[in-house]
Order: sequence, then structure tokens, then C-alpha cells
Amino acid sequence: MLAAYAATTSPDDPLSALVVGERPAPEVPEGWARVRVRAASLNHHDVWSLRGVGLPAERLPMILGCDAAGLDDEGREVVVHAVIGDPDYRGDETMDPKRSLLSERYQGTLADEVVVPRRNLVPKPAALSLEEAACLPTAWLTAYRMLFTQSGLQPGSTVLVQGAGGGVATALIALGAAAGYRVWATSRDEAKRAKAIELGAAAAFESGARLPERVDAVMETVGAATWGHSVKSLKQGGTVVISGATSGPNPAATELNRIFFLQLRVVGSTMGTKEELERLMRFCEQTGVRPLVDSVMPLEDARDGFAKMAAGDLVGKVVFTRP
Ligand SMILES: NC(=O)c1ccc[n+]([C@@H]2O[C@H](COP(=O)([O-])OP(=O)(O)OC[C@H]3O[C@@H](n4cnc5c(N)ncnc54)[C@H](OP(=O)(O)O)[C@@H]3O)[C@@H](O)[C@H]2O)c1
Repeated sequence: MLAAYAATTSPDDPLSALVVGERPAPEVPEGWARVRVRAASLNHHDVWSLRGVGLPAERLPMILGCDAAGLDDEGREVVVHAVIGDPDYRGDETMDPKRSLLSERYQGTLADEVVVPRRNLVPKPAALSLEEAACLPTAWLTAYRMLFTQSGLQPGSTVLVQGAGGGVATALIALGAAAGYRVWATSRDEAKRAKAIELGAAAAFESGARLPERVDAVMETVGAATWGHSVKSLKQGGTVVISGATSGPNPAATELNRIFFLQLRVVGSTMGTKEELERLMRFCEQTGVRPLVDSVMPLEDARDGFAKMAAGDLVGKVVFTRP
């Protein structure tokens, strides 16, 4: 079958590690289910994997991709929940020490077929297209949990979203605005700032700009490049929720003094539960909010999508399709 996979890894030249070519179709273990992938979205996680982050050499070759929507063996349209937990673990699977995301331990979704534990299948709501549904399991689910489980925000609160153009960031803006938050966003790029306003942001600023007032919470995925600004932008007692560090994990200024003196909260967040994914889908149905798709392309052209993401040249999600 056709797949986009990491044949090797390269910390400095991730695209050199990517192959779009043939891989064997997967066997279906007991209790697992096959999904014929119709749409699969790209995440920065896939670029990290090509760089070798979280993907040791002994697991190669590895089909990339966390997110998919497609058809199960009974012909039902399903969405794949990307967090694969230990079947014996009880409770929030994002806290399961043995959890992994598809494409870390088990082969990923950028292929004709993917196999996952049957419990990881979620029916696709009719209101969402397969392309839209394929955007939800990683970036949109992460944004949902950051905003609604981890932040402590109430409707009417002001939230700052750093790096407006990203997959998680566009989800944060759209979901936050639909939930009644006043959303402010930053981006390095004027066109992305304009897009943030279209998505529902009340205002958009250049990265690092002084804000009109301090905010209740900051949603951080950019990391080192924006961390200092995030901490300085918070009100007394405010919260920064962090789920990623695209520009690096070690900011020059950690602002420790400010964190304790202003009694700020720093909350880590990773993916979300299957229940949160189901609620996210209902949220989209109820509000009419839909994922912002930057581009849709056949899986054969996956290299173009990866190049866009590696260069930061996108607003929203890149979706790969199969016939
Ligand atoms: N913990 C989790 O479960 C989880 C889940 C999803 C994602 N993540 C992580 O979150 C991050 C975002 O993921 P994504 O899929 O949304 O990625 P993405 O679509 O590639 O997001 C890229 C955005 O990051 C901003 N950015 C990148 N480098 C920057 C820099 N040097 N300075 C300022 N801004 C920069 C850019 O914003 P502008 O161009 O608009 O300035 C860009 O639009 C990744 O690191 C990913 O691994 C974690």
C-alpha cells in the first residue's frame, strides 16, 4: 500500500528522511480494527518524528501520521483517536505512562490503511466532512483540552494564542472565540494575523508586541521564541498552558521570578481523551465551527505538505487524501 514513512531520521534535514512509497498492508491483531484511510492530516509531530524526536532507530521504518478519518471493515465512517493506551489502564489515557501516539510505537495514518485498537474508533458525525474530521484527533483535540480542561478560563476571559498560523493555534482561536472568550493572537506574519481575525480573534499582534492589557491565560505551543512574552503578558494569578515548543524547549529568559511573585500557574497539556474528542465533535456540530484547512492534496504529494510545514508556510491544517 502507499504510505508516507520515516525510512531514517535526520535532526537537521527532516525531509531527507521522508519516503512516499510502498509499505506492506497491516495485519489486524485480535481486538484491533482496520481503517481504510480517506483523509489524514499532518501535524508538527510528523516533522519531529523525521528529526528523530521520540522515534528511535529500532522502530524504523515507521509510517507517519497521528490523525485519520475513513471507513472501517463494516463500511462505517470513523475517526481514529490517536492516543493508544495500555488496555489494562483505567482513567484518563493521556496520563497512562505506557501511552503512545500513532506513529510512535504503532504504524501511523499516512497510508491506505491503519490498524488501531477497536476502542479507538469514534463514529464520524455526518455534519463534518472526512477532511474536516481528519483534522480533529491531534491539533484540535489538544486545543480543546488546553482551553476547556486545563486553562480554568470562563466565557468572557481574555486569552492570548501565540503563533496564530499553526494547526493547534488556529484551533485555539476558533474554539476559544466560539466559547465566548476574548481571543488575542500573535503571529510573525501579517497575512496570518489577518486570518486570525477572520477565525474569530478580537485582535492580532506582532509576535512579542506589548498588549493593551494583561490577559487571563496564554496558550503556548511556540516555546522558546515566545515564552518570555507569554509570561510577561499574564495577569497576577494567570495561567500559561503549554503543549508544544516548536521553536525549542529552552527559552533564554524563563522569568522564574515573575512566575512565583505573581503566583502564575504553568500547566502542561498533551492530546486529550476519547471522551474529549467526542465532545469536541459535538462542539463543532453545535457551533458550526470547522477546522481551518490550509490545503488538501493526494497522499502521493505528501512531500509538498511536509515542506510547507517544515518552512512554517501554512495557516491551519494540511490534509492528505486517498481515493
Ligand atoms: N503535547 C501535545 O499533545 C501536542 C499536540 C499537538 C501539537 N503539539 C506541539 O505543538 C506545536 C505546534 O504544533 P502544530 O501541529 O500546530 O504545528 P504547526 O502547524 O507547524 O505550527 C507552526 C506555528 O508555530 C509558530 N512558530 C514556529 N516557529 C516559530 C518561531 N521561531 N517563532 C515564532 N513562532 C513560531 C508559527 O506561528 P506564526 O508563523 O503565526 O508566527 C507557526 O504558524 C508543535 O511543536 C507540536 O509538536 C503538541
